[in-house]
Amino acid sequence: MADYLEFDPSKTERREIYRLLTGSVVPRPIGWASTVNGQGVTNLAPFSFFTVVCVAPPMISLTIARNPDGSEKHTLKNAKETGDFCFNVVTTPIWKEMVDSANGIPEGESEFDATGLTQIPSVKIKSPRVKEVPIHFECKLHQVLEFGPNKHPLCIGEVVYFHVDRAGGTAAPGVPPPAWSIRSRLKSMAR
Ligand SMILES: Cc1cc2nc3c(=O)[nH]c(=O)nc-3n(C[C@H](O)[C@H](O)[C@H](O)COP(=O)(O)O)c2cc1C
Repeated sequence: MADYLEFDPSKTERREIYRLLTGSVVPRPIGWASTVNGQGVTNLAPFSFFTVVCVAPPMISLTIARNPDGSEKHTLKNAKETGDFCFNVVTTPIWKEMVDSANGIPEGESEFDATGLTQIPSVKIKSPRVKEVPIHFECKLHQVLEFGPNKHPLCIGEVVYFHVDRAGGTAAPGVPPPAWSIRSRLKSMAR
């Protein structure tokens, strides 16, 4: 019989639990979310606690942890304020900009300016899209569920509009070609 290391989460350090979760659930897709606040300041940040929820209607989820002081991250604040966010797929040419967009910058500044990425308007939502990537999902914020004593927020978005770059030239419309090389997160690294 295998000799397992055993962990009871009630007796395990938070950091260790994080390693167990993120080292075992791999790879994780990256939900790169663009938003805008009421003052028109745009925001961009990656979230690897991200997945598809359902098809009809199309829904996706992002888990946006609170900051250590309990406050909400800008992405969540903005999505609640405007009622929407945009998912941008991460591809190899811009993976470094994606990582840089996770740097905490003041609320009045935009990660689009900090990374040099280009924001373009969406069709049905206020949040902008990242021009440099081939797929965008425009999402209306459907629900924010909060879990546990720290009120850990899970945001569910309904996709109200899809954009897929025609340049993919794929035979099956909407299916991303391998050449786009979509990036995901493997343990603590983006691969
Ligand atoms: C690849 C990658 C994945 C990340 N995944 C998450 C995540 O799932 N949840 C989370 O709260 N933060 C995650 N982060 C950290 C956020 O991107 C970071 O806290 C960011 O500053 C939040 O920005 P905002 O305050 O502008 O929303 C991730 C960072 C990177 C580089």
